[in-house]
Amino acid sequence: MSILSIKKLHKSYTHGSNTTHVLKGISLDIEEGSFVSILGRSGSGKTTLLNVISTLMEYEKGKVIIDGQDISKLRAKKINAIRNNYIGFVFQEFNLVKDMSVLDNVATPLILNGVKFKEARKKAIIALTSVGLEQYAKVRPPELSGGQQQRVAIARAIVNDQKIILCDEPTGALDDYTAKGILELLKELSKTKTVIMVTHDEEFAKTYSDRMIILVDGNILKDEIIHNTEIIESKKRKLKENTAGLLNLLMYSFLSMDIDKKRFGKTFRTFSISLTLFIVISVINQNLDIFTERYLKFFVQSEAADKNIILDFIYQFLEQNIASLISVILYILIAFCIVSYLFVFTINIMNKKREIAVLKAFGASQESIAILFMFRPIKFTIAIFKDTLIYTFILILVVNNVFKFREILVANYFGFFMNILEVTYGTIISFFLNTDSNLIEFHLHYSHIVYIFGIVIVLFMIGSLIPAYKISRSNTIRMLATE
Ligand SMILES: Nc1ncnc2c1ncn2[C@@H]1O[C@H](COP(=O)(O)OP(=O)(O)OP(=O)(O)O)[C@@H](O)[C@H]1O
Ligand SMILES: [Mg+2]
Repeated sequence: MSILSIKKLHKSYTHGSNTTHVLKGISLDIEEGSFVSILGRSGSGKTTLLNVISTLMEYEKGKVIIDGQDISKLRAKKINAIRNNYIGFVFQEFNLVKDMSVLDNVATPLILNGVKFKEARKKAIIALTSVGLEQYAKVRPPELSGGQQQRVAIARAIVNDQKIILCDEPTGALDDYTAKGILELLKELSKTKTVIMVTHDEEFAKTYSDRMIILVDGNILKDEIIHNTEIIESKKRKLKENTAGLLNLLMYSFLSMDIDKKRFGKTFRTFSISLTLFIVISVINQNLDIFTERYLKFFVQSEAADKNIILDFIYQFLEQNIASLISVILYILIAFCIVSYLFVFTINIMNKKREIAVLKAFGASQESIAILFMFRPIKFTIAIFKDTLIYTFILILVVNNVFKFREILVANYFGFFMNILEVTYGTIISFFLNTDSNLIEFHLHYSHIVYIFGIVIVLFMIGSLIPAYKISRSNTIRMLATE
């Protein structure tokens, strides 16, 4: 039995009132263990054929049967599982995720199949070894040459022991010498797997593949055996219909979210500084009487009026006018920050179209993709809050008079250091125990901050979930084509 059968396949594209009939009733049987090249002029339908075979693209008429299973009769979940278990992709543009290590790129199909991370990485190392790149496991893809990146992509295409490797011009972006290396590798793989490769190069097709199919205008013009294939017949694969669990998605989202401080530096600082100001000024706002007494002393030191009357006056004035004004400004500031970062996040996901497409190509369901992207902002928000907490902590120490320079002037060094210890201790205690410590005057409790943290993270999560879900619903396979 063939590993892949196509029967009278028709596929057309519709754009408005225009319909292009691209595949016009193609039938094919491909044996397990063969290396098939598909050639044809630009626009003859090669990529379309590959996309239909991959189960990612719908078609109007005909049948696609993979290892005896008729795709058109299956539910989406099962089709995802078939893609994950049977099909590996190799594209002209490699389509590796740049922010993630080579190892995790290779492990992706397993992670999406619910394999535990440790196990997935072990298998990824084995796959990397088989393409000769195990020493680059920790490196990010952009640090590798084109040929090396394509080898990583091939490792990803075989890591889940997929039986069919679909390659769309895998050597299109490489020089001849490197291309030959990749073709040798594919030839070697075709001893145990089925390789279907679209190429423009007839020389390469004749030298490396066993069978050459020429498409013209959506029909097979020529189907020629070049070398006799040693046909293998492996056992029918037991389909693992697992999907990535939440833990896998969470870990993957952390690994693939690169918080590069160089790149995000400004974003980070502005956001955490605004948040810090918000928190600290709120704290001061709640204790305006202490604040006025301490810092606006110069008003009351003149003998003209009774100290308390002036203090009272200033306090009431602040409370009635400025305090509410400050609050309003702060809330506007923080809302503005959150909205602008939400925007940044949404744009960021628009830029991840290719990554979403890769995830889908390797069997992720729409829901998994949405959840994965929903988890993405967690790492980002935690990083911002870490900075915010540090800044806030320092500011609260200062507001609480951590440095009493007067003590130094009167040479009371012991008092100076004791004060530092007391204020620091008081600030930490009141923050973590959520109570007022009597060592300090301006108190900040974790309960003051948690709600902002909660709101920010929830907004960011929703802001990522929606675009990711929308993108994953569209025809993602096109996003992986050459730009
Ligand atoms: N998503 C799409 N929407 C509309 N038309 C499309 C779409 N994808 C491909 N086509 C059209 O279908 C035809 C076949 O395209 P396909 O990409 O399959 O060709 P190809 O043989 O892979 O070409 P190339 O060698 O340039 O990659 C072309 O006329 C193309 O314009
Ligand atoms: Mg093409």
